[in-house]
Amino acid sequence: MAISILGLDKNKTEVLVKELNILLANFQVYYQNARGLHWNIKGKNFFELHLKFEEFYTDAQEKVDLIAERILTLQGTPLHTFKEYEALASVPVGKDISNDEQAVKLIVDSLAELLKIERVILELSGEADDEGTNSMMSDFISEQEKTLWMMNAWLG
Ligand SMILES: [Fe+2]
Repeated sequence: MAISILGLDKNKTEVLVKELNILLANFQVYYQNARGLHWNIKGKNFFELHLKFEEFYTDAQEKVDLIAERILTLQGTPLHTFKEYEALASVPVGKDISNDEQAVKLIVDSLAELLKIERVILELSGEADDEGTNSMMSDFISEQEKTLWMMNAWLG
């Protein structure tokens, strides 16, 4: 078994890097979704949601950097072109959404998709004894589950 400079199984690490790049691509789509909603939201909930979506894209921006730097730590190369992101994206793309319920629904659907990818990485990193990636996924998952609860509560 080939061992990486971190002392991890090289083959398993390569698989993890691939999955982390998929997560990175999808976070970039989610980031752009939150940006679009921040800009285009209209109606009586404007002030509340305009701020909430800013909070979401700021958080996504931080997570994008954490994921990319985890990929580098694992000796991989983070994807950084829109073309690659688009090819790997499974998060739904929201366009010109100004309605509050549709906007919150897009966040809910995006987070649900991110959670699926994160759970795959959680399992793979557990099998690879990659605690750094594993604990990062645990943090992301618990935060996003809480956000999902709140967004679903908002939707009623
Ligand atoms: Fe703004």
